[in-house]
Amino acid sequence: MKVLVIGNGGREDAICKKISESNKCTELFCSKGNAGTLRYAENVELNSNEEIFRFSNDNNIDLVVVGPEAPLCEGIVDLFKDSNIKVFGADKKSARLEGSKDFAKKFMKKYDVPTARYETIKSIEEGKKAIENFSYPIVIKADGLCAGKGVRICNTKEDVLDYFKELFEDKIFGKEGSTVVIEEFLRGKEASLLCFVSKGNLIPMESARDYKRIFDNDEGENTGGVGCYSPSELFNEELKLQIEKILEKISNGLKKENLEYSGVLFIGFMIDEDAKVLEFNVRFGDPETEVVLPRMESDLLLAIEKSLDGSLEREDLKWKKEKCLTVILTSRGYPKNYEKGKEISGIDSVDKDIYVYHNNTKVNGSKILTDGGRVLSVTALGNSYDEIREKVYRNIEKISFETKQYRKDIGKM
Ligand code: AMP
Ligand code: GLY
Repeated sequence: MKVLVIGNGGREDAICKKISESNKCTELFCSKGNAGTLRYAENVELNSNEEIFRFSNDNNIDLVVVGPEAPLCEGIVDLFKDSNIKVFGADKKSARLEGSKDFAKKFMKKYDVPTARYETIKSIEEGKKAIENFSYPIVIKADGLCAGKGVRICNTKEDVLDYFKELFEDKIFGKEGSTVVIEEFLRGKEASLLCFVSKGNLIPMESARDYKRIFDNDEGENTGGVGCYSPSELFNEELKLQIEKILEKISNGLKKENLEYSGVLFIGFMIDEDAKVLEFNVRFGDPETEVVLPRMESDLLLAIEKSLDGSLEREDLKWKKEKCLTVILTSRGYPKNYEKGKEISGIDSVDKDIYVYHNNTKVNGSKILTDGGRVLSVTALGNSYDEIREKVYRNIEKISFETKQYRKDIGKM
């Protein structure tokens, strides 16, 4: 099978590695990939869904696996609908579960999926009225895709009004912020659950915990995620039963609403006494993928094929007992301003049982350079988080680049 993976982050590096290990894979391409995906794929640079369509046809690609949300929300699955090439991912309509917070909240309400109470507004005037029904802190979310930056937790009315002004008057997110969701603030601990969607049926992978804040002890700004481990210690038998019921409700909703895609549904949970759904994404998570896929014993390509024909079952997925943890090396200044193009050394000197996924790197002659905010995911499997932490942090010392920065508390319980 000839496979094309779309994306250029750590998630895609992990997807490419896992697909390359399948004996069903005969040739692997990644667009646009990074210095890491080059280890198992040929990198190609395709800049639009139309270019991906043309390349796939010209090169007899059998399967396209889409990493990021943007091509899905722009309708890549719909574009390939009448071709023989299969695309693993949500169609445009289903991608609204990620692309519109209002759409996702309406879906959850309609299908009785536990989530934070909310109201949707379209103007400052509506917003001023709506916030009277909430106590502080209040969560304000731009409706559309804002690269993970659209959510603000406001402690005072002044904070709320400032954010309303940014959204509705300064239009910092343009159209994506012209509809806004106001939510009740939920307390608890977060956990991520990635599920295969097989024509509307949900087949869960293993749970994970993502660290979103840039600094230790969850201080500083929200990022795309700077550390992660799998499984989440919160997933005990009781919680698993609760989550099964939630998955049933979501699956029922997907089928009733004609959202029976084949791809991935990422469910973000807030877990306190009960589990509540914070958000949906219609793709693999990053960095969740870097800790979930190394634990998958079964063949990813087979799971994708079965998901596409609607036959995937839980028994098809086999998981290692070992835990997995990753620490992300970032460029100092991320998630704000940072420099790129710094030479990275030492990746090849890490221990044999350490795996370094590339988030944003590029090759320049014989050198590997930093090429973004998140740079490398230093990852290992092991029997306890303490054991893995020791290994990972010891090996991080062997990797150098001028702007290297990382959290020291990933997996510290
Ligand atoms: P979202 O993109 O909706 O997942 O929001 C991004 C982050 O904001 C989440 O991962 C949470 O840390 C936080 N967040 C979102 N909604 C809420 C909520 N209702 N209560 C508390 N925190 C929230
Ligand atoms: N780790 C969060 C995300 O992928 O959106």
